[in-house]
Amino acid sequence: MNKRFQSRSRREVLMMGGAAALVAALPFSVNAAAAPLRIATVGAGKMGSELGKLWAKAGHKIMFSTRHPEELKDLVAGVGANASAGTVAQAVAFGDVVVLLVPYGAIPDLVKEHGKALAAKALVLDVSNPIVPRDGEVGTQARAMGAGLYLASLMPGAKIVRAFNAIGYTSLAPNANRTGDLLGVPMCGDDAGAVALASMLVREIGFEPVVVGGLAMGKHLIPGADMPLSGNHTAAEIRQIAATLK
Ligand SMILES: NC(=O)c1ccc[n+]([C@@H]2O[C@H](COP(=O)([O-])OP(=O)(O)OC[C@H]3O[C@@H](n4cnc5c(N)ncnc54)[C@H](OP(=O)(O)O)[C@@H]3O)[C@@H](O)[C@H]2O)c1
Repeated sequence: MNKRFQSRSRREVLMMGGAAALVAALPFSVNAAAAPLRIATVGAGKMGSELGKLWAKAGHKIMFSTRHPEELKDLVAGVGANASAGTVAQAVAFGDVVVLLVPYGAIPDLVKEHGKALAAKALVLDVSNPIVPRDGEVGTQARAMGAGLYLASLMPGAKIVRAFNAIGYTSLAPNANRTGDLLGVPMCGDDAGAVALASMLVREIGFEPVVVGGLAMGKHLIPGADMPLSGNHTAAEIRQIAATLK
């Protein structure tokens, strides 16, 4: 390990803005429990609660947030000592990493309120999807521009990675840390440090990260019968499919 980082926690290095250096310095086998990150979820529904549980189990500190954090008591109690709940503002302030897991229609207002703070994070992990019948005009715009580029246009400078978008929430717990070929997670992003950090977080809960390209590839990371990367695939399958996409 790089000597500069031996005596520093992952959090301290992230606070100094060194996500790429940190990830380069730490082997993927490092135990999260020994060097936990603070992960904030914005949204704690089906997807947010499942991913939060897995990262908490891996040793990270999780703060779940929604518009109604008082309703998250049972979730926090079930996840245990690594979990807490708060308002979105509290979670954004807490997180080294912020994970967005809300209906896409909520994103522009969230960015208006928290965009500056989000843009300062080492990683904004966008699990959300524009679904037109649910998200209306925002969904239409994000589909037209591509989900990754759309979010980047709202938050210039933010270190955005899309991941876990097209894997159903019921597939997470049964496939995390499975034996044999791991379940692949297609992901995309333009910031090398953020992509490396997101890859580490994917690996730590027992999935295989597969970077399929920059944020422009975010238009393919959406669930649906017309989206070949949607659903459960091994890393090898994802690479094969991604090679056919532009
Ligand atoms: N379900 C899946 O299998 C799956 C898989 C991959 C990706 N996704 C995507 O992930 C996102 C979340 O999906 P989900 O299935 O987890 O949805 P969900 O179960 O309906 O949960 C949505 C969460 O977002 C919160 N929320 C909504 N508006 C908010 C706002 N303005 N500020 C803060 N929190 C807000 C909700 O809590 P309050 O209403 O209390 O605020 C709730 O906790 C969606 O974009 C979805 O397309 C879902």
